[in-house]
This record gives sequence, structure tokens and C-alpha cells, in this order.
Amino acid sequence: MQEKPTYILAIESSCDDTAAAILKNNKVLSNIVARQAVHEEYGGVVPELASRAHQQNIVPVIDVALKKAGVNREELSAVAFTQGPGLMGSLLVGSSFAKSMAMALDVPLIAVNHMQAHILAHFIEEEGFDMPEFPFLAMTISGGHTQIVKVTDYFTMEVIGETTDDAVGEAFDKSAKILGLPYPGGPLIDKYAQEGNPKAFPFTKPKVPGLNFSFSGLKTQILYFIQKKTEENPNFVAENLHDICASIQYTIINILMDKIKLAVKETGIKQIAIGGGVSANSGIRKTLKEAEKKYGWKTFIPKFEYTTDNAAMIGIVGYHKFLKHEFNDASVVSKARIEL
Ligand code: KG4
Ligand code: ZN
Repeated sequence: MQEKPTYILAIESSCDDTAAAILKNNKVLSNIVARQAVHEEYGGVVPELASRAHQQNIVPVIDVALKKAGVNREELSAVAFTQGPGLMGSLLVGSSFAKSMAMALDVPLIAVNHMQAHILAHFIEEEGFDMPEFPFLAMTISGGHTQIVKVTDYFTMEVIGETTDDAVGEAFDKSAKILGLPYPGGPLIDKYAQEGNPKAFPFTKPKVPGLNFSFSGLKTQILYFIQKKTEENPNFVAENLHDICASIQYTIINILMDKIKLAVKETGIKQIAIGGGVSANSGIRKTLKEAEKKYGWKTFIPKFEYTTDNAAMIGIVGYHKFLKHEFNDASVVSKARIEL
């Protein structure tokens, strides 16, 4: 007899995207994200506005996810949600909804760590995408985090390097802001960089020992550089936008690559998986693929829709926790900060 499939409803609301997904075992049936445009004019996420938008979006987003998957509420095996890390007001909207829904349907509730989810997104079954084998190195690069993690099992993860100040996504976004670009500026830097010369303006890399990162110095360096150049020529940014973006991106990629190389050297692990919003960056994707040939690595880059915040990645963690019967009761609390 064929085993009954597991249907997971997953909810992600840690920052400014309201997302819901339905998974059938390790496959994604639907993956819906409502992006919040409201933050653009403020140059960053405004927590109060994010919580309010989550409240507006959550019911329709879940509705669409169920409809698109062709799954009835009654068929759900469990409800998974992001417990943290993230903005408290945003997390509370998702967790409260998940709790009520699990209770109403009388199915298990599963709390998921957002950072674990960025890593386990590689275990979503997708045509054309290989899954890493344990052990592997995961580099999570997002707007909130920059970590190198040694992953020995689905739930055995050790952070071996992390940022001591800004996250790499912040380095992209804050640099973009200095250039007068709207939030989030990472994708725009990526876009303009594609037509620029990466060696036009050499920026220096920070000297951080071991596997840790620092990005705040680079941001200050870029700020002073732009201020000085704009004093000399008020049109400097407009006239050199592509080259500036390419140079910033090149420096950031070099910083990341130096640390991955060191992590490979220190651990002897040659499988590298990236995750988080910044792994959507075309320069990083290209550089990693080149490194594969150059250094004999095997690299794993998630499908585009699983790089930035999404609920499918919450669902895959939910699925593996479901298999282990790792459930939470309704007293589980959201956490703005949470260890891996
Ligand atoms: O994982 P994510 O969606 O949210 C967090 O958990 O932070 O990551 C968002 C970050 C933002 O900083 C955004 O600028 C950056 O990912 N990002 C990119 C690209 N696409 C998104 N940065 C560089 N190049 C991109 N193509
Ligand atoms: Zn994220």
C-alpha cells in the first residue's frame, strides 16, 4: 500500500514579505509571496508598517497558496511557521495565525528557524537541482545574516563564521542608498554591475581574522569615496553608476570568496551551498560556478524563488520535523533572536 502523503502549510513572516506555501512531502505545490512595497520610500523596512501589511496580506496569501496547490484545508498534515529570527511584530502575525489554524484543524504545529530554512531549502525536490550530501558548508547571505555553517545533518549545524557587524545584504543595500538607489538596492547594484567594469574603482577589503566577516568599514569607505568624487564632479554617480556598482559587487564577492576558500581549507569539505537573498546575485552565482571548476568544489545554488524569503523553505524544514515527530504546543513563542 502506498504511504499517505504529508501536506504541510508553511507560513513565513519574519521581515517584510508575507509568504505561504503548500508542500506535498519534499515537493512544493505552491509558493506565494506578497512583497511589501510600502518600505521603498523609507529606504528600509519600517517594522510597524511591516506588521500591519502582514495582517492585511496573510489571509489572502494562505488562501491563494491552498487554491493554487489544489489542496483543501482538511487535507493538511501540519502547519509550520517561522519562529525567528526576525522582527517581533512581523513574527507574531505569522505565529498567531499558524497556532489558530493548527488548533482549528487539529493538526501538529511546527516552529521553524528561518536560518535553518535558508539552508535546508536545498532539500526541496526540484527538477534540475541536486541536493547536497552531508557534510557540506552552507553560506547564508541575506539582509539580516552572513554566516558560514558546517552542516552535518538536517538539524546538526555549527556556525563556524559570521559577521561582526553588518550583514552582506546590508552592505549592498546601504551602498545602494549612498548612490541614491531605492530600497532594497541589492538587486539594482547587481543589475547595473552587469554592464560595468569591476576593477574601475578598487575598494580595500577589511582585515578580519578567521572565518568572520565585517562589512561596516566597506560601507564607510564607499560613503567617503562618493562624497569626495561628488565634490569634484556633482554628476560623478550618474556618469559612473555601472562601474561603481560593478566595483562594489566585485569587492563584496571577493570578501565572501576569501572566507569560503578558508572554510574549505580548514574543514576539508568541498561541497558549498549558498542561501539567503544575496544568493540571487548573478555575480556570486557566476563566481561560484567558476570556482567549481577551478578548485574541484561542488556548489549548490538554490532555485531563484527559494533564495529570498519564502515559505517553501519553511515547509521543507516542517516536513523533516514532521518525519521526526518534532512538534510544538501552542505555548511556543516567537523569538527575534534565535541560535541555529
Ligand atoms: O533573505 P532575504 O530575502 O531577507 C532576509 O532574510 O534578510 O534577503 C534580502 C537581501 C536584501 O539585502 C537584498 O538587497 C538582497 O537580499 N538581495 C540581493 C539580490 N537580491 C536580493 N543582493 C545582491 N544582489 C541581488 N541580486
Ligand atoms: Zn531570510
